[in-house]
Parts: sequence; structure tokens; C-alpha cells
Amino acid sequence: PTNTPLGDSLLRWWDLERRDLPWRALPGRCADPYAVWLSEIMLQQTTVATVKGYFAKFLARWPTVESLAAAPIEDVLAAWAGLGYYARARNLHACAITVARRHGGRFPRRAAELRELPGVGAYTAAAIAAIAYGEPCVAVDGNVERVISRLYTLADPRPALKREVERRAALLLPSARAGDFAQAMMDLGATICRPRAPQCDRCSWSSACEARRAGAPEDYPMRSAK
Ligand code: ADE
Repeated sequence: PTNTPLGDSLLRWWDLERRDLPWRALPGRCADPYAVWLSEIMLQQTTVATVKGYFAKFLARWPTVESLAAAPIEDVLAAWAGLGYYARARNLHACAITVARRHGGRFPRRAAELRELPGVGAYTAAAIAAIAYGEPCVAVDGNVERVISRLYTLADPRPALKREVERRAALLLPSARAGDFAQAMMDLGATICRPRAPQCDRCSWSSACEARRAGAPEDYPMRSAK
């Protein structure tokens, strides 16, 4: 990773405009890997607004991965009620047990090892490794796919698009602050570079954005031909 003008400007924007979310550490502080993991599992298929309350409830009731591992699965499923996709709750509990018993209660530090845990896919592994441990990896979800495909007017069909987005995002990854960079792209996609009516006039990347220059930010990412 090397510093680039685009990477720097995104982090400057984020330092001023970052969303204050309960699973985020205070600026400059390390995030609790357990809290990061819990939030990322909840955020897989659920909105930030809904996750906030559940995240607080889980963390108050089970403040450590060991306490969650020791809970009866019925209690975890009952606390999960309303979040949907209940396989996530079963995997959450299985993952807590694995971390508690096989990893001494500490989450692995590398994305490749995190990927082995129940319920942790490529995106979630990269997000945890970057946010909790600063590993220089990019976490590409739908938001990041949209931001990067607009910035570079990427026209690759899926699933090749994701690999191209990963490659381009990795070129922007700064040499430090990988977790902040990941969260900054998430916030940019959620609040500025939205699917409809993106707020290009507020975007730190607008002068470089090729989709904006073409006058068609909403055309990206392109819908795949059937
Ligand atoms: N969506 C997925 N992970 C997120 C995070 N850490 N912050 C905000 N939105 C997210």
C-alpha cells in the first residue's frame, strides 16, 4: 500500500464527517475485535439503524466472546429475534465457541484465518482484519462496489466486477489506517455516493470521478445483462 491523493482526501473527509456508530472506536483508538465481529455479522443483511439496538443489547448481555460462547443457543436465538436470517445467529454462536475454545478467546488477526470461522465470509474477514487489526486489506461490499465502479466507470460484468473493484480499491489503500479507509468507503457509499441521487457536490472524490464527469453516476454499477 502507498499513499495517494485520493486515499488521503477520503481519510481527511472521514476525519471530519465519520458517522458515530456504537461499534466504532474513538478516533485513534483500537476497536475491540469482538465488537467489530459482532457488528459485521449483524450488518451482513440488516441496516445500520436496526443493528444499533441489537448490538447494544448483545454487548450488554454478553460483553465478551467467552460469555457469548457459554450462553445457551436458545437464549442467543431469542435475543436475535427480529434481525432475520437466523442461520447468522447459529453461526454467531458456533463462531464464539470456536474462538473461545480453539483460539483462547482471541479472534485471529489475519483475514485468511478469520475466513475459516463459521459465518465469516470474504467481506467480513477483510472488514474485521482491517478495522480491528489494521491489516492492509480491502473489504468490498455493495457500497464499495458502487463507489469504485463509479470512480472508474467500470463496465465489467459480474462476477468479474468484484475482482476489478478489489484491485482498484487496493491501489488506493493507504500505507496506514486500513480500517479507517474501509469504514470511510462504507460511509461514503451509504451517505454520499448513494444508489439514487448521489450527492456529488459533497464528495471528496468528485473531481476525479469518471462517472460524474460522464454525467451519469447512477448508471454505475451497471446492471448485468440477463
Ligand atoms: N456496513 C457493514 N459494515 C459496516 C461498518 N463497519 N460501518 C458501517 N456500515 C457498515
